[in-house]
Amino acid sequence: MSVEVPALPPLKARVDLSGQVALVTGAGRGIGLGIARGLAAAGATVVAADLLAEVASESAAELAAEGLAVTAAQVDVTDEGGVGALIGRLVADNGRLDILVNNAAITGTKTIEDTSADEWRQTLEVNLTGPFLCSKAVLPTMTAAGYGRIVNIGSVAAKRISYNADASYTASKAGLLAFTRHLAYEAAPAGIAVNAVCPGPTLTSNLAAIATEETLRAREKSVPRGRLALPEDIMRTVLFLVSDLAEMLSGQAIDVDGGSLLGWYDTETYFERRRVS
Ligand SMILES: NC(=O)c1ccc[n+]([C@@H]2O[C@H](COP(=O)([O-])OP(=O)(O)OC[C@H]3O[C@@H](n4cnc5c(N)ncnc54)[C@H](O)[C@@H]3O)[C@@H](O)[C@H]2O)c1
Repeated sequence: MSVEVPALPPLKARVDLSGQVALVTGAGRGIGLGIARGLAAAGATVVAADLLAEVASESAAELAAEGLAVTAAQVDVTDEGGVGALIGRLVADNGRLDILVNNAAITGTKTIEDTSADEWRQTLEVNLTGPFLCSKAVLPTMTAAGYGRIVNIGSVAAKRISYNADASYTASKAGLLAFTRHLAYEAAPAGIAVNAVCPGPTLTSNLAAIATEETLRAREKSVPRGRLALPEDIMRTVLFLVSDLAEMLSGQAIDVDGGSLLGWYDTETYFERRRVS
């Protein structure tokens, strides 16, 4: 059984990215696909890159059919040569690169005791070294232009622990927030703003395909706002961060989790306790 992914009310704010060029990694599905759609809908020319060439092509074709300027590219974010070649091609084709969204990531699920050193390294490689390699590769172009926006997709796991993924994931996302701050500091004088978005549990189509109403309701109980985040929620915060509304933001990590990190219990239990005392 699967659940439906609801739609958010239409966006009232207008962000204009026309003339800008964006690269989103891990954009073949899920949150990355939502971000690619949102940036393109705001007028950017978007390259949706993913390890899985076919998935990226199908998604880009779907967005192109909606009239959006999205093309697909295959890339492994851990492959320095491949990342450099992709960004070189992208800049040669478009003459610029304004926005990079480091979204690609993997998740392990084992306990620390059961995790092999290779599994640990692989998560760190994709989730932390990947954003380093992609950011390093875009810096010369953005620095020459005196403008750039880099958004790293972290996780609320970076601030506590991951409930669904493993310790390597938690460590990689905490590292990514540290990298965000350091890169923000070094890149700021060149006019490049670097920030992170930390999604809480997000209802992607993959999760919807395996979730049941019951498991979903149980997870929603832990979110004060009463629902899981949607890829579009994450996209809207990315849109804010790459827009002129966020002009003075640097090195920040914004939780998009409906308040999940704020409390210890679900809100029902919280109010119940106050009624008793
Ligand atoms: N879904 C959630 O609940 C949630 C919560 C917190 C944070 N996040 C973060 O949001 C981002 C997207 O999550 P999602 O749920 O959409 O994930 P997902 O697994 O559905 O999508 C990730 C994409 O990254 C691609 N990818 C994996 N390794 C790659 C590599 N080496 N090179 C290039 N692409 C690669 C995959 O092929 C996939 O298309 C991730 O950074 C994730 O850690 C997600």
